[in-house]
Amino acid sequence: MSLTIIVLAAGKGTRMVSEKPKVLHTLAGKPLLGHVLDTARALHPEQIIVVTGHGAEQVEAVCAGDGIEFVRQARQLGTGHAVLQAMPRVQAQRVLVLYGDVPLTSIETLNDLVAASKSSSLAVLSMDLQDPTGYGRIVRDNNGQILAIVEQKDATEEQLQIRECNTGILCAHSAPLNDWLNGLNNDNEQGEYYLTDCVAACVASSSTVESRIIRSPVEAQGVNDHAQLHELERYFQRTLAHSLMMRGVSICDAARIDIRGELECGRDVTIDVNCVFEGQVELADGVRVGASCVLRNCKVGRNTEIHPNSVLENSVIGEDCQVGPFARIRPGTRLARGAKVGNFVEIKKSEVGKGSKISHLSYVGDATIGEEVNIGAGTITCNYDGVNKHRTSIGDGAFIGSNSSLVAPVEVGKKATIGAGSTIAGSAPPDQLTIARSKQRTIPGWKRPSKKEN
Ligand code: UD1
Ligand code: CA
Repeated sequence: MSLTIIVLAAGKGTRMVSEKPKVLHTLAGKPLLGHVLDTARALHPEQIIVVTGHGAEQVEAVCAGDGIEFVRQARQLGTGHAVLQAMPRVQAQRVLVLYGDVPLTSIETLNDLVAASKSSSLAVLSMDLQDPTGYGRIVRDNNGQILAIVEQKDATEEQLQIRECNTGILCAHSAPLNDWLNGLNNDNEQGEYYLTDCVAACVASSSTVESRIIRSPVEAQGVNDHAQLHELERYFQRTLAHSLMMRGVSICDAARIDIRGELECGRDVTIDVNCVFEGQVELADGVRVGASCVLRNCKVGRNTEIHPNSVLENSVIGEDCQVGPFARIRPGTRLARGAKVGNFVEIKKSEVGKGSKISHLSYVGDATIGEEVNIGAGTITCNYDGVNKHRTSIGDGAFIGSNSSLVAPVEVGKKATIGAGSTIAGSAPPDQLTIARSKQRTIPGWKRPSKKEN
């Protein structure tokens, strides 16, 4: 049977106290709605329809693409009303309803629910909660058959004792669902059209309602405020850290790591506290990442060590390299095997050859550096003339004396030596010493001025 997934994302999210629509707040660096859409896609439905309302333009702009359809719900008159807006667009025989602010439902749970809806025109996903306050309660008869879902505000004292709650997620056959939704009224405590009233409507048409209970309530946990978002974030991060640890990664403190994207690790990788990984990061066997590093879209080769407080972005670091502490590796950088980048060094869009060292306090931008080059402390590539960027090229085995400025475009030959403190604006030939600084003088007989008497 074909499937359409409807994702409700029209709510305002007042309790987020934010200009940003709720479903665009991020969990592990990705909008809440993005998590839901990823899960939806993984179920391979025929169609995904997102119901937007508050901040619709923003939400649609962020989540557009991949054939996702949007339907506007101009006024939020209830969950039933929201689903109804999407019904004219539904093409499949079955509909699965998800929520843009419930990011961690597992694919297995949803597959299970969809399977349960084969034998019945409606299947709901429920959960057992210690404290059911606020949730709709699942009302069953003596045989355990579902009769209705009653919202907290509409429930009797007796119904409030029920601990089986509605997650909100349900799967229904499209044709009867359409009829039930059209028959809804808003004659309840909140004056809303409740999606949950479809349950009683289904029972009234003498069909049985199927159900599945989720194992972990976190799968149905919605986000209403920043405290709940934080709770889910920490849960999610712990889960990611745990699965890395099970794959052999040594994480110094699973409560102090953040992965906002995908982190792939080889064997014997060690990650110290407070590191953040964003986008796609790959750490090969034996890589060590020191405390408080940020790595965004990077590949790091075997046995390389990233020392504390380094920030690396869109770069490829080879094997056996040493980076940091306090290094900044900007996009487009490639370090070959055994390269060393020390403290307070910034590298941008440059290639650093095998075994080359930039150990202290340098800026290297738009440069090609050969093998076994030594760049002294305080060296700067002057790559920008105020209008255009230019390249610096340094041959194998060159030695750049400390505090030199290399004014690009400029070429330093193989095994050339640059005297400390030079400003090099023309090519420096290979194998020779090039020096460009004013000659040192000593003035004989010079006296320091003395204090005037008055
Ligand atoms: C709903 C369920 C309740 C369940 C709970 C689980 C109903 C009537 N009640 O209650 O049984 O226990 O979820 O969290 O369905 N939305 C729209 N348009 C609307 C109304 C809501 O898009 O007109 C979206 C909201 O943005 C939100 C979701 O639907 O993401 C749920 O709506 P909300 O009003 O929070 O429902 P609850 O009262 O929590
Ligand atoms: Ca809610």
